[in-house]
Amino acid sequence: MKADISNKHDIEEMINRFYDRVVLDEKIGHYFTEVVKVNWEKHLPIMYSFWENIIFHSGIYEGNPMALHQNLSQKSPLKMEHFQRWTKLFNETVDDLFEGEKAEYVKQRAMSIATIMQIKLFS
Ligand code: HEM
Repeated sequence: MKADISNKHDIEEMINRFYDRVVLDEKIGHYFTEVVKVNWEKHLPIMYSFWENIIFHSGIYEGNPMALHQNLSQKSPLKMEHFQRWTKLFNETVDDLFEGEKAEYVKQRAMSIATIMQIKLFS
């Protein structure tokens, strides 16, 4: 049996493993390597805070992901299939590493944020 997500270190591991998959993915990897050349030293700590905020209400994330993805979609249109792939990779990463209430919660939140992003982008 796997453990649940229980501290900041777990979130860091989850995010690192998620982006390991993302950059290799044939459907969405190029958004991170070509459309935007992501500065990982900067991006990863932002993502740790974003998810820490969601899971433990203790992060210090203050960005605006909606605006950022709207901007990204203007460079290379984001479609439903991209969000489906993003969500699939996210869920697979969580399931590979963790099991429990927080693990279920984080997948649910990712899905609902992805849904809201799509509603905003496609309407
Ligand atoms: C089609 C799916 C998605 C793609 C291709 C995508 C791609 C990206 C890229 C390229 C960045 C920019 C990194 C940078 O400028 O350094 C980014 C930032 C970010 N993404 Fe996504 N993303 C997707 C979906 C999501 C979803 C569903 C969430 C949340 C559940 C999310 C959360 C974030 C956050 C929090 C940031 C950082 C914003 C900031 O800098 O304040 N993304 N994403």
